[in-house]
Amino acid sequence: MLAIRLSELPMDGSPDAQLPAGSALAAHPSSSNGTVGEGPLPLYRARVAAGKLAPDQAQEMAAETLQDLWRRLRGYEPTQEEPEKQGFLSRFFRRKPVEEEQNPAPIGLYLVGEVGRGKSMLMDLFFDTADVTRKQRIHFHQFMQNCHGRIHAWKKIHGDTADPIGPLADSIADEAALLCFDEFQVHDIVDAMILGRLFQGLFNRGTVIVATSNTAPDDLFKGKPGRDAFLPFIALIKKQVNVLFLDSNRDYRRARIQGLPTWHAPADARAQRAIDKAFEELTGVAHGEPTKLEVLGRKVEVPQAARGVARFDFVELCGKPLGPADYLALATHFHTIVVDGVPRLGPENFDKARRFITVIDAMYEHRCKLIASADAVPDQLYERGENAAMFERTASRLMEMQSQDYLALPHLT
Ligand SMILES: Nc1ncnc2c1ncn2[C@@H]1O[C@H](COP(=O)(O)OP(=O)(O)OP(=O)(O)O)[C@@H](O)[C@H]1O
Ligand SMILES: [Mg+2]
Repeated sequence: MLAIRLSELPMDGSPDAQLPAGSALAAHPSSSNGTVGEGPLPLYRARVAAGKLAPDQAQEMAAETLQDLWRRLRGYEPTQEEPEKQGFLSRFFRRKPVEEEQNPAPIGLYLVGEVGRGKSMLMDLFFDTADVTRKQRIHFHQFMQNCHGRIHAWKKIHGDTADPIGPLADSIADEAALLCFDEFQVHDIVDAMILGRLFQGLFNRGTVIVATSNTAPDDLFKGKPGRDAFLPFIALIKKQVNVLFLDSNRDYRRARIQGLPTWHAPADARAQRAIDKAFEELTGVAHGEPTKLEVLGRKVEVPQAARGVARFDFVELCGKPLGPADYLALATHFHTIVVDGVPRLGPENFDKARRFITVIDAMYEHRCKLIASADAVPDQLYERGENAAMFERTASRLMEMQSQDYLALPHLT
């Protein structure tokens, strides 16, 4: 099923309002086989029956709930009157205030649970099978970045005093009647402040939201300054979206990665095969999609990404002018990074060694998992040159990052 890209379309028909090329929200590659036309539950059961997934009661129940939503969403198109056709008088004579307006859209779903429980896997089964023409599946962080880009573009045209949130909601609702967010999370006060009105706008326009998250709605943005102003958003989410706790007691990701060797030396054909297998094991696909992460207004190119896993050649990761903010973004966005071909580095490669130190520090601090092929064991990778003493700590971290204890730690986003 075709998934559109939000940012392929401008916000107001003006090319200037379109995001720069490359900031596209990546459409999620379809990963389903088999009984797509029957919805997520039969597909889930088929995968369990085929031994691709372990049977799990909590997942089965979540799949039933998603199946119900799938049924209600078949052929869904919001019937909402287009906002520009709603004149002043019709607004004036509305029987209900805007915020109490009912819409006929099916209630969405917010799937919450601990890491590795299969939330994204289930949402992907749902998304791939959803019979909705305009649908989008996106990482929530990327969605917010895209929104900020559009707001910026809007203000450049309409000035700082014009309110961009209504037009932003219009453009998003035009592009997607079903929005699936992976890893819904709110850390940023700027995001917190726009979310309430943006989501109200989306719900008014009939957009259906499905999300996965590690945080229950009541705990979003908890303990942060400005939380009081965020509470109406939580109330709105709880009204418009059913919250389902996925209580599976198994961290399947941990089980998968713990079964995999993570450091492959030497970086020969055997290592390559092992890494290909690990990537497929973790993502369900042989190759990821090229993706771009926006960091401080720039784009960091990720050659392959799928299901929270990124894959780079060493030179793509450490041979380019990337800095700490870029590596931090990678380490928080991806739970696992696969690096092919880490070479032995000499004094002339001090810049690559420095970047490798930086990326490993960022990954270590955020408990991002590393799978790599390399010319040598960590201790022998960079023995002479600028920062070689500092590299000893990196080598020690690289050793620890291979341990079962490290692999069991939850990713810090
Ligand atoms: N029942 C299962 N049997 C085997 N593997 C599973 C099962 N459920 C999920 N997995 C696999 O476990 C891994 C983690 O699943 P998934 O990414 O969906 O977890 P998640 O709940 O979204 O985690 P997070 O909160 O970290 O995003 C994936 O590789 C997925 O395919
Ligand atoms: Mg997930």
